[in-house]
Amino acid sequence: MSPFLLTRTLPEDATEAALRADVLHGLTRTPKALPPKWFYDARGSELFEEITRLPEYYPTRAEREILLHRAPEIAAASGAHTLVELGSGSSEKTRHLLDALPSLHSYVPVDVSESALTGAAKALLEERPGLNVHALIADFTRGLALPGTPGPRLVAFLGGTIGNLLPAERAVFLRSVRSLLAPGDALLLGTDLVKDEDVLVRAYDDASGVTAAFNKNVLSVIARELGADVDPDDFEHVALWDREQEWIEMRLRARFALTVKIPELDLVVPFEAGEEMCTEISAKFRQEGVRTELAAAELELTHWWTDTEGRFALSLATAS
Ligand code: SAH
Ligand code: AVI
Repeated sequence: MSPFLLTRTLPEDATEAALRADVLHGLTRTPKALPPKWFYDARGSELFEEITRLPEYYPTRAEREILLHRAPEIAAASGAHTLVELGSGSSEKTRHLLDALPSLHSYVPVDVSESALTGAAKALLEERPGLNVHALIADFTRGLALPGTPGPRLVAFLGGTIGNLLPAERAVFLRSVRSLLAPGDALLLGTDLVKDEDVLVRAYDDASGVTAAFNKNVLSVIARELGADVDPDDFEHVALWDREQEWIEMRLRARFALTVKIPELDLVVPFEAGEEMCTEISAKFRQEGVRTELAAAELELTHWWTDTEGRFALSLATAS
């Protein structure tokens, strides 16, 4: 096997078709909403990396702390020969796992962002020329076909990205992950935990405005890809904590009454002054909730690790 393979699991125009369908559906429903996966063009992936370095955005540092301390235990429990990573982004924290897995044969990063995948693979192969990297450009919510690399497999889903799926979407997603696991394989799942509202809101509404730029980037993606006539600065960034659902919701609020024209979709979308469109939920978890959601997908929680401040958790689960 060559050390780097990049596989596009969908034809190139399928991404555009999916964007068109999501925008058409999301901007004609009430209330308006767009799925968060469209944040991540090259600029959005860069902005996310900036977010991970913000003083207010604790999840990346907390998860890195757990990985630093627990990677040897995770490696021993999984004995993985293939590490699959869903929503791998820059694969920055993954290095701690790669370092702890001496018999690893292949690393399979999966992401919708081609620029993130190629950037991460280039950096990893410079550091680890012996590693086989088989990157997949794919949507992890649409069923995955993994390459035939040797087992056992460890499927990692880090960063708390599972929290960006709605509960019903999470249930379907976890079942699809379960269907990827053979006996002896495991899932390593990162989840951000419920905590003080102020800490949470600050993490999603930082003082330097990077998260605001990340949120508005979805409008730039629509303008570029679909020719939409929309000015991202006509919208304000909103982050609020939903106490009942226990999730952060990011929204874009129209500063005044305006219309967004998308000639490619034959669509004119009116926004009232102050109207809000949901662009992301980021659910926060408790141990019992994680255990229950895993069990519903026939996955058994075998290990639960948190950082010293109890902000973030990593779970290891196997097929039950
Ligand atoms: N795992 C990294 C990156 C998290 S950012 C970390 O912990 O820091 C979320 C990543 O998931 C982005 O790289 C984004 O492109 C990817 N992503 C979001 N939705 C996706 C989807 N539906 N399918 C595949 N990748 C997705
Ligand atoms: C990728 N995901 C886990 C991030 C989160 O915290 O929900 C995305 C993000 N949105 C705003 N800031 C970061």
